[in-house]
Amino acid sequence: MQIQVVEITEKSSIEFVALDHEQPIGKLAAQPLGSGQYRILEVAVDSHCADRETVGLTLLNKLMESRGWKMIFAQTGDRPEDAFVGELLCQAGFELLIERTFVEREIFGYRIPFADPLVYKPLCEAARETAVSAFAEIMRSSPPRGGSPPQTNFSDEFDRMMQYAGRERAGNMWKLAFWEDAVAGLVFPQVYSKNEMPGEILFVGVVPRLQGKGFGRILHAKGLECLAGAGVTRYSGSTDIINKAMLRIFEVNGCLRVGGVRPEFRLMSSASRA
Ligand SMILES: CC(C)(COP(=O)(O)OP(=O)(O)OC[C@H]1O[C@@H](n2cnc3c(N)ncnc32)[C@H](O)[C@@H]1OP(=O)(O)O)[C@@H](O)C(=O)NCCC(=O)NCCS
Repeated sequence: MQIQVVEITEKSSIEFVALDHEQPIGKLAAQPLGSGQYRILEVAVDSHCADRETVGLTLLNKLMESRGWKMIFAQTGDRPEDAFVGELLCQAGFELLIERTFVEREIFGYRIPFADPLVYKPLCEAARETAVSAFAEIMRSSPPRGGSPPQTNFSDEFDRMMQYAGRERAGNMWKLAFWEDAVAGLVFPQVYSKNEMPGEILFVGVVPRLQGKGFGRILHAKGLECLAGAGVTRYSGSTDIINKAMLRIFEVNGCLRVGGVRPEFRLMSSASRA
């Protein structure tokens, strides 16, 4: 087998096509996200190909030759072909970040169906530092998967999430929850402008000292109530399959699992690890 790779680069995508004697046997498509970050959209190798692994790794290596890359993200699914791609990614040095499982539920007119002792403040009425410090405390207590060093700049992470959510929308929708005058947790409901999009909860967390007392369930339900109050009729959520508490919260708050498990991978360049 003689693998030759042809690159087709367009403004918003990069595609590498692997050829054997001028016949296409595989392809990789990726999207540049800016700042040296890329997202792999597709890796496919002909199922009749004699050495699928070599073809797949050759395509991944081509992407890693891109100038100035810092991070590459990839998401797979639970089809048999996804297992092959997942193995390729691991061989190429990608780390498994999360295996995401998805849930949904109808939330038309949803109200919290049990007593709620928490007092809420929208983010726009609270000091940003209070929210960031609770966010950092919660995140530090749940270290990420994989071999990457735990992230320490949670202030930047918080700002990135706010930017994604839209600052004004986050200011009104995101809530700090107080218990006996101290911050107990956070919930970040997210509505999208497109009507057909379900609402989401970008983050829900309880400060470590108050975890396991039922506040996580209440905060998630509060998030659903906020979404319903904003006119959203459907909720879509996801979490890591190892997050047992969150999976239980989905269950007790009436959310049903949909679709399969989607593993997410990341590769960091040596420059970005330093
Ligand atoms: C996930 C999180 C919000 C849960 O909050 P919490 O206040 O500890 O959860 P609750 O006390 O409401 O517990 C909810 C359910 O999960 C169960 N549960 C809690 N921890 C559990 C664990 N480690 N394993 C299995 N079940 C668990 C509880 O028993 C309860 O079930 P029950 O109603 O049958 O008794 C909290 O652990 C957290 O902030 N984690 C870090 C951030 C995070 O992972 N957020 C979610 C992803 S965005």
